[in-house]
Amino acid sequence: MASLGVNIDHVATIRQARYRHGAVGVVEGTEEPDPILAAHEAVLGGADVLTIHLREDRRHVNDRDLELLCRVARVKVNLEMAATDEMVAIALKHRATSVNGGRPQMVTLVPEGRQEVTTEGGLDVAGQAARMKGVVAKLKDAGVVVSAFIDAETAQVEAAAKAGFDCCEIHTGPYASAFAKAGGDFRVGALAGSLERVSDAGERIAGLGMRFNAGHALNYANVRPIAELMEVEELHIGHAIVSRAVFVGMRRAVEEMKGLVVGL
Ligand code: PXP
Repeated sequence: MASLGVNIDHVATIRQARYRHGAVGVVEGTEEPDPILAAHEAVLGGADVLTIHLREDRRHVNDRDLELLCRVARVKVNLEMAATDEMVAIALKHRATSVNGGRPQMVTLVPEGRQEVTTEGGLDVAGQAARMKGVVAKLKDAGVVVSAFIDAETAQVEAAAKAGFDCCEIHTGPYASAFAKAGGDFRVGALAGSLERVSDAGERIAGLGMRFNAGHALNYANVRPIAELMEVEELHIGHAIVSRAVFVGMRRAVEEMKGLVVGL
């Protein structure tokens, strides 16, 4: 049965929409909504993992959010980040100084484009094998579980295994857009094919001794077929949950997604 990782970045995106340029009369520390409060609600709703993406330009989540989350989280923290020296140093600093069991326990390496609204494609592990190997080794030496966010391609899965990654998170964006185009009808070849690509990649990942995670653009309509894949261990979901939370609250939005993920 898959676990649910809830990505709280999008709560920070709402906060920054208001405060990015400084709002009149704001007292520092009172900016809302607070992603840390969202994290608390997410755990009460059944989140098994909390994911936070600290971007180079701090456009949504900031250093304070990461620091606080590492201190207060009672479930696994998954830090998404670019494979830069700055980010590796931050991950190791939090790993070393956390009072709460040494979080983040997991780092997911992602590509980062300045202009993108959200992560757009998988990391090119095969194209930067030496650099990846070095970054993975540094993080693993500190006891961090290291995951690569990659497209469902054999070359990337094999390169991730060679670089020493513990897990691969398969980019489910292409599956999600095929699902939307086909209206969820798996008789449509493009949709069946995209699910098969994710599934094949998952089998290869597990066959190479890594953990198979999946995420990106999963929602309440399209998540079941991915959650049902044999080897999948964790699903990482953000936007759909935060969107649903606007109407029903974070705790219930997570409960509903968790029900779908575990097949209730
Ligand atoms: N996994 C990774 C690696 C991501 O970068 C993101 C987006 O932040 C997600 C999962 C969650 O994607 P979404 O917000 O579309 O659910």
